[in-house]
Amino acid sequence: MNNPITARYPSNIALVKYWGKHGNQLPCNASLSMTLSQAYTEVNLFLQDKKSEEPEFTFLFNGKPKESFRQRILKYILKQKEFSGLLEDYALHIESQNSFPHSAGVASSASAFAAIAAALLKASQGDETDFPEQQASRLARLGSGSACRSFYGPFALWGKLKDIPDSNDEFAIRLGDIHENFQNMRDSILIVEDKSKSVSSSLGHSLMEGHPFAESRFKQANNHCMDMLKVLKDGDFQSFIYITEREALSLHAMMMTSREYFMLMQPETVKIIDEVKRFRVDTGLPLCYTLDAGPNIHLLYPKTIEDEITPFVNNFLHNHTIKSMINDYSGRGGIIS
Ligand code: PMV
Repeated sequence: MNNPITARYPSNIALVKYWGKHGNQLPCNASLSMTLSQAYTEVNLFLQDKKSEEPEFTFLFNGKPKESFRQRILKYILKQKEFSGLLEDYALHIESQNSFPHSAGVASSASAFAAIAAALLKASQGDETDFPEQQASRLARLGSGSACRSFYGPFALWGKLKDIPDSNDEFAIRLGDIHENFQNMRDSILIVEDKSKSVSSSLGHSLMEGHPFAESRFKQANNHCMDMLKVLKDGDFQSFIYITEREALSLHAMMMTSREYFMLMQPETVKIIDEVKRFRVDTGLPLCYTLDAGPNIHLLYPKTIEDEITPFVNNFLHNHTIKSMINDYSGRGGIIS
């Protein structure tokens, strides 16, 4: 086998959530995320000699064939004109692995499609040019919307905001001008439920069509993005906490009030939310939570208060409120070689 192209890209956690899409994977509102470090997907792409005229594509996930993923990725490759030529010239073989367990409350499609799009783009470009990150972000979006944000860190913005010149719906952009308070953020991911208990995002996005609160939700998210841009620049923890927690609960409120509804929070999720609030009031420390489309909790805080937060978090492990924990932190994006 020839040397593979290796792409390692992290997941990201949205602070302002993307929920609702239209057209070709375009968002109904802007979203803003923190890029992670330890939760990543590594993809090795091998270009092999073809044996037939038909597209040849094999796929291993964590070392084993996974037919459902293989089909989804093959469909994705065939649909992108930048990539479909590769299937005419080569037999493609992809080996993909995640650094984190499946269904751990980490958006695996974000890191997976960022890594897959990056590897395929590198293969289709050859070695001559600098790696076109913006194009990679756009192509990753077509696999999974949130994947387009994994190219830039520590924070990325995706979606057109009329007062932010470079912002657009096609790809994400890196946020510059981040106050030192937010340069080194921690994300302790508390696993309340490790079995698959999340809403498929395609179903979730589609339930925003005709949702009674859709228009106000899209407006709220765009306003939150604008507010968050200022907060990240000014270093204002109090507003960061306010927006982040409001976003988490707004996402779940949308799910609970759609025509097919989901209540994904578990009793432990609510208990932890309560305890985080109490801890914050008692200590005055800037600790807050966010949620993805599942019951697990992301606890966000600056590295400077890690020593005070660790015993609080470990307590959830000791008294079995949570099953496990992933210690992550903000990062700068991926690596391709
Ligand atoms: O990228 P998708 O289509 O899997 O949607 C992601 C949706 C959320 O994770 C719930 C929110 C977000 O902005 O990441």
